[in-house]
Formats: sequence, structure tokens, C-alpha cells
Amino acid sequence: MLLENPLRIGLRQERTPEPLILVIFGASGDLTQRKLVPALYQMKKERRLSPETTIVGVARREWSHDYFREQMRQGIEEFSDGIENEALWLDFAEGLYYCSGNMDEPESYQKLKAFLEELDGKRGTRGNRVFYLAVSPNFFPPGIKQLGAAGMLDDPMKHRLVIEKPFGKDLSSAQILNRVVQNVCKEEQVYRIDHYLGKETVQNLMVFRFANAIFEPLWNRQFVDHVQITVAETVGVEDRAGYYETSGALRDMLQNHLMQLFCLTAMEAPYALNADSIRTEKVKVLQATHLADVNNLDRSAIRGQYAAGWMKGKSVLGYREEPGVNPDSTTPTYVAMKLMIDNWRWQGVPFYLRTGKRLPKKVTEIAIQFREVPLLIFQSATQQANPNVLAMRIQPNEGISLRFEAKMPGSQLRTRTVDMDFSYGSSFGMATSEAYHRLLLDCMLGDQTLFTRADEVEEAWRVVTPALSAWEEPADPASIPQYEAGTWEPSEAEFLLNRDGRRWRRL
Ligand code: BG6
Repeated sequence: MLLENPLRIGLRQERTPEPLILVIFGASGDLTQRKLVPALYQMKKERRLSPETTIVGVARREWSHDYFREQMRQGIEEFSDGIENEALWLDFAEGLYYCSGNMDEPESYQKLKAFLEELDGKRGTRGNRVFYLAVSPNFFPPGIKQLGAAGMLDDPMKHRLVIEKPFGKDLSSAQILNRVVQNVCKEEQVYRIDHYLGKETVQNLMVFRFANAIFEPLWNRQFVDHVQITVAETVGVEDRAGYYETSGALRDMLQNHLMQLFCLTAMEAPYALNADSIRTEKVKVLQATHLADVNNLDRSAIRGQYAAGWMKGKSVLGYREEPGVNPDSTTPTYVAMKLMIDNWRWQGVPFYLRTGKRLPKKVTEIAIQFREVPLLIFQSATQQANPNVLAMRIQPNEGISLRFEAKMPGSQLRTRTVDMDFSYGSSFGMATSEAYHRLLLDCMLGDQTLFTRADEVEEAWRVVTPALSAWEEPADPASIPQYEAGTWEPSEAEFLLNRDGRRWRRL
């Protein structure tokens, strides 16, 4: 019999957010035009927004409401399915407003506050606010302090704060930022974004693990040999050198996105599907996690940089030759790490994480490699033992596959490795929705499950701190391992696994 938990909230009913005003700071930026407003328009199409929902863009430029609407329309047309129904667009556009302001100046917040109150009267938004900081991280502290000083975050029932990544640049800056936040509002008002949590297949990790009984008994040190988590990208630094030079792959990808995938793979079952129980389990696993060998970083953390090479038949520049990048840069565009978890479930099982730009393929995957059979009595076509692998493909070709050995047809008893495959596309016949769609909807509904808690962000920074600190030290540019664009990893990262008698998966 299924045990009913009174706290289980079930797989979310289709709820509609309360009437509210979503205030987007950084409204003239890329994120607003490419992701946020197209996602909001999609919600409007799906009737997921209450008719009163109002969006106010804030940025320094002096734009009119109409100019802002025009910019957002272009964004929807260029970066999503476009506008098919003019009447629907006009209805949506009626709820779009713009208010110019400077994030450092108290007067801007007074002006904004008065404008929002005026809109409450006009649109019926009842004082409900979501403040979304889609700005450069140096504006987070002044923005949050000013919102607090203007009394705009005073009511925990009505006021929410959404903070884009990156949340800090190391442990101490994340702790300072958390203190700034905690001085002006309560944790239940705060939504720290990691867009990987908004991906359908990332959420499916929990469903896969905790809605199926057959995997749980295998999900531990007794049966699992090791785990590989890969987030490979084909793009280079693009036009983001200014940001990327101070960030690099460790801060940009590993500390946040890969650590979230790691937590969802390794955590214990939460007691209910609610934000606190899930986030508590994630924090617990992070607290038990450390780099495999902090005294010998070469054995647990490897960095690399892409050199010139070929991608899809085209020659591409090396990282140090990219516009805006220091020709002697030591910023890593590739990171691999070996993490260990000190708990009963995972003691002794390495988790290998890797991420990089300009790799041969865009692919995000979590692979659970099981132990070998104790004794091989069959002859394999590959002349070697091929342990079972459960691969969860987060993107693209979202799905799950299980690799196992099967008998090859014929009179001989020989085996070959085959895959049993589940594909999201063919099973559900619909595209998975955009991460921001889900995240925006959840913060409007007041559901924090897919957002990171203060202690979770800090623990994730703590785990990577030994590598971060070592790599902050000035280094000879010639000492940074290079990999040719369009190839997998620097040879140093291969050794990370070869030394343990293992290999990276070729995806
Ligand atoms: C962002 C990083 O957070 O994630 C980018 O800043 C990276 O550098 C991107 O390209 C990858 O996201 P996705 O959803 O394309 O895997």
C-alpha cells in the first residue's frame, strides 16, 4: 500500500499565481529580452497568469513604456515562437511598463515605489511584488539594501526577491551577500536562481529515483563503482570575455549547475516534495562532500583552456586569442573534479565531474557506472567486462538509457553490449519547456523547491574552495593545460580517471 504522507503536496496542481507586479531590474539586458519576457508571454498564452499580472522593467536608460513594449515584442519574435495572436499580445503589452532608475540611488526606489502603488490601483495587484535582479552581480548588494531601506521587502507574505546567478564569487563573498539579504528579508522570500533546476530532465532525476522502487537498492557503494557527471558545451566564450575572465568554468558552471546535478544524484530521499525537505537533503550531502585529495590537487581537480582548433569543419580561435581575453589568461574554460562523499551510502565511491567549452558535443549527462560482475563466465565481443551503466541524458535527446550485456545471436555463447532506451520526445511527444518558464512560475506561486537556499549555496562554495584558492594564485600561463577546440579534455583530466583504472565516457 502506498504510504500517504500528509505533507506530500503531490505533483503540483496547475495553479495560477496571485495578481502581482513582477519588477525586473536589468530590463534593458539580454536575459530579459531573450528569456524572461518570452517565458512570461508563453505563460500568458497558456493562461497560467492571472489577468492582473503586471510587469515593470527597470533600467538606467530613459525608455518610454511603448519603447519597452516594442523591445519585448522583438524579443518574443526573435527568441521564442513569436506572436500569432495580436489580441493576446495587446492584452499582454497592456500589462508591461517601464520605470527608469539607477540602482545606487535611493530616489529611484522612491519613484519606483510610488509607481508600483499607482499600478496597484490601476491593475488590482494588491501590493504583491516579485523583485527580480537580472543585473550584474555588483548591483546585488546595493539593490537589495535599497529595496530594504525603501520598505519594499517588508512583508514576507507579499514581497519576494529573485536573485540571478552568480551568487558570490567564493565562499566569503557568498556569505556576505547572504547577510545582506538576511538583513532585509526572510529566507522564505528569497529565490536564488540556478536555471539547471528549471530543466524538466533535472526535475525528472528526483522522479526517477524516488518514484521507482527498483533503483534505490542499487543506488549505493555496494553496487555503484563510480559516477560521471558531464556538462559539455560546443560554444566558446562568445562575447562574454569581460565576465568570463573573472569567472571561468569553475565558478560559471561547476559550483552551481554541476553541483546541483551532483546533489540530486547523491542525496537521500526527502520526506516530502516540499522546498525545505528537499533542500535540507541537498545540504546534507554537500556537507559530507569534499575533493578527493585536497593536499594533492592534481589528483582531484584539473583545469584546462581551449586552444585553437576545428569545430564542425570551421577553424576557431583559442581562448587566449578571443576578443577581450588577456593573451596570458589563466582562466579555466574546462574543469574536472573528483569528489568523495563521507556517508554510509557513498563512502569510497568517486563522483567525477567535468565541464568545458569548445568540446566536441553539447551534452549534459549523469552516468552511474555499476560494479563489474564478480566472475566473467561468458566471452564478450569486446573481450572485456562491460559493466552496466545507467545514463541520464539531461540535454539534448533527453532520456535515460541502461547499458547491459546480451547474448549475440548464433550457436556460440558470446555477449555484446546493448542499450535499453527511454526518450522523452518519443514517450511524451512534446517539447520540454524552457527552464525560465518553470522558474518564473514557481517564484510567482511562492514555491521555493527549485531555488537554492542560503546554506546550500555556501556549502557548494565550500566544496570547491581548495581548487578555487589554489587557482587564484598567480600561475605561469604555460602551466595551464591546453586542449584543442573540438577535442574532449586535456590529457591531465584523462589521468584523473586513468590513475583510478577508469576512463571518461566518450559521448
Ligand atoms: C550559464 C553559463 O549559466 O549556463 C554559460 O553562464 C553556459 O556559460 C550556460 O553556456 C549553459 O546553459 P545551458 O542551459 O545551455 O546548458
